[in-house]
Formats: sequence, C-alpha cells, structure tokens
Amino acid sequence: MLASNTNTKTTSSPNLSIILAEAKKVFVLNSSWTQHGPTHWLQVEKNAVMLGEHTPGCDMEVARLFALLHDCKRQNEGSDPEHGARAAKFAQELHDRGVLGLNPGQLATLKYAMTHHNGGQVSDDPTIGVCWDADRLDLPRVGTRPDMALMSTPYAREWLRLHSAKTFRG
Ligand SMILES: [Fe+2]
Ligand SMILES: [Fe+2]
Repeated sequence: MLASNTNTKTTSSPNLSIILAEAKKVFVLNSSWTQHGPTHWLQVEKNAVMLGEHTPGCDMEVARLFALLHDCKRQNEGSDPEHGARAAKFAQELHDRGVLGLNPGQLATLKYAMTHHNGGQVSDDPTIGVCWDADRLDLPRVGTRPDMALMSTPYAREWLRLHSAKTFRG
C-alpha cells in the first residue's frame, strides 16, 4: 500500500485557483451539462476538506488537488475507465512545469489516488481514503447512493450513516 508522505515539507503551497484554471483548460466536456465537471470538482473539494479535518494523517493539499484534477481528463459521460490514469499523467505534467508545488511523496500519493479512483477500491491510507470518499459522497448527483462498504474513512461512514436517512429516504 502506498503511504501518504505527510512528514516532508512541500516546496510551496499550490495555488488552487491556478490549478482549477489549468483543469478547466484541458476539460473537453461541456461544463454546462456534464456531471463530471467543475461543479462536481468543487463539491468534491468541499467534501475533502470536511473529511480531511476529521481524518488524522490526511494531507489536505493532496486531497484538494485530487478534487480539482481527478475528472478533468474525462472524455465522455460514461464509464471512461482510463480517465483517472490520464488525469494522473496531467498531474505529472503540471508538476514538471512547477505548478503543483508538491514533494515527490505527495505527487506519488496524488497520482495513485487519481489513477485508481474509479477502480472500486478502498484504502487505509488517510489521504487516499479521503480523496476517494470525497468523490463517492457526491454520487447522488448521478442518482447513485454511496455504498457504505466502499467508504475508506471512519468519518465518511459516520457522515453517511447520519445523512443517508434524510438524503436517500424512499
Ligand atoms: Fe472519475
Ligand atoms: Fe469524480
């Protein structure tokens, strides 16, 4: 299992508005109707912050970057199984241009989380778990109820237990 590297200082904090602009530049779907575009990315970022604050060891910088970048290379509204790997490759490009400001451990964690985010896995790594849970908590946007068994972090499971009754009643 890949572990988050939270002990090594980053070279500089990433500017999230610049990252968002970079993601929008390469996004090929129509943002006015896609269910995988900037509206979703920003909701995942909110979820990541909420979960990260309750998940010891979570690297919030990595989780927020995941939120903004993980779906930016989607090419269709369907399954598109390679979109995570394409997004990871894009993250490497941004890193090589000096845009991300991550250390090598953080970059590796970010790329792993992106590559495998749609693979139906769970993780006991706090950062990767927060990334995947933050994404899955936004599944109701496509009419899908988040699966408790696919939540990686204790706080996401607790949140889902508390909110599922009113959110998914009927
Ligand atoms: Fe995705
Ligand atoms: Fe997503």
